[in-house]
Amino acid sequence: MDTFKILPLSVTVLLLMLGVSTPVDAQAPRPHSRDSNRDARSNRTDPARKDGRTPPMGWNSWNKFNKGISAKLIEEIADGAKKYKLDELGYRYLVIDDGWQLRELDPKGELVPNPETFPQGIAPVAQYVRDRGFELGIYSSPNALTCANFAGSLGHEPAHVRQFAEWGCKFVKYDYCPVRNGESGLTREQIIDRYRAFGDSIKAHAPEILFAICEKGWAGQISKRQLAKDSPPITSQQRRQAFDWCKGVGGIMWRTTGDIGPEWTRIMQILDEQEGLAALAGENAFNDPDVLEVGNGNLTEAENRAHFTLWCMLNAPLMLGNDLRNIPEGVLKIITNKEVIDLNQDRLCQQAVKVEDTGDIETFVKPLANGDVGVCVLNRADATQKVALNRNTLGLKKGQAWHVRDLWEHKNLAKLTDQVHIVVPSHDVATFRMSPITKESNHRE
Ligand code: GLA
Repeated sequence: MDTFKILPLSVTVLLLMLGVSTPVDAQAPRPHSRDSNRDARSNRTDPARKDGRTPPMGWNSWNKFNKGISAKLIEEIADGAKKYKLDELGYRYLVIDDGWQLRELDPKGELVPNPETFPQGIAPVAQYVRDRGFELGIYSSPNALTCANFAGSLGHEPAHVRQFAEWGCKFVKYDYCPVRNGESGLTREQIIDRYRAFGDSIKAHAPEILFAICEKGWAGQISKRQLAKDSPPITSQQRRQAFDWCKGVGGIMWRTTGDIGPEWTRIMQILDEQEGLAALAGENAFNDPDVLEVGNGNLTEAENRAHFTLWCMLNAPLMLGNDLRNIPEGVLKIITNKEVIDLNQDRLCQQAVKVEDTGDIETFVKPLANGDVGVCVLNRADATQKVALNRNTLGLKKGQAWHVRDLWEHKNLAKLTDQVHIVVPSHDVATFRMSPITKESNHRE
């Protein structure tokens, strides 16, 4: 043991440096390997998709406001987002979810904004949002009716894409709701065809629009509503197959789960449902574990921090779901942590994988473009846990020393050679960026 240092952190970190070399685990992830993402990144030169190269960031109305939306609310949200300078951190798309439209299409088959809540239509809202440094997103469905019973786009795809483009929308969430429409029996191909119709319309009429697929596993028959109570657990391969078509029809992101809620148990369930999906992710291609609940419900500060960090590690689209007009200081500190957002927006676009799971403690590793590695240790238990983090388990190269930076404390810790001992409070995370020490970087300290 060379050094021994105790640091006064909320996530108390005790760094132990052991000079003992251990063999590299062949099963551990190789941070510098790019092979696993080769397919997912193959459309990297598509210029129309440039804006979605890293996970889209922004805000969505559903989690906090449900159907209670209006032009006035969206404009106030844009004012709030500007006031808190969220644009400077990369938050960009303000997305109007379900409930902006009437239940009936007009005689031309076009969607009609609710005249009571959007009296001037959508275009002025898009302009208002743009004037404050954001872009407007909107919502529709590949069904006759949306999930909340408003008019959908089935059979009218080109016309509706044209409407969205004319209004100045730059993002569309396209949400499949078979139960609402009595269509639970559709085949995988039928569902994919519906998404392809919309994706093709975007390609033809408005390639600047980001296409956000929200299908939740129906085509792959892994949607919760398709599964019997006693059905066997879903395998990683089944999960991948459920979403392996989304990129091919033009999707930049795809919802991998049913709806999130502002409860810790639901957030943990959703985390588990991401298992095995990392291979689908890459530039312009993101698994979407749903809009954030940070700042909603009764989530504690630790839970909000853990939820946000995990979504960053997962390469998830970073769509806020709270009320941006008035953000409590603790929540603001979380959603504006640039060092953690940088993990999410890293241009390698590699989704974190879980390298250790003790039941209570889970450790995630996210390789980064410059050779650094993001590490997140999650404590799911109801009590504080002590954790030994091994270089070997993290898949870090043997014989290499690492700078360790705590991304919530914004502090550089002592160097890591083989093992780090940390303490993680209940329902919280410890989050680090590890950088290989070179001769030059050694002088940084
Ligand atoms: C579904 C989606 C939600 C939201 C609602 C709107 O439940 O999964 O994210 O868009 O529909 O009705």
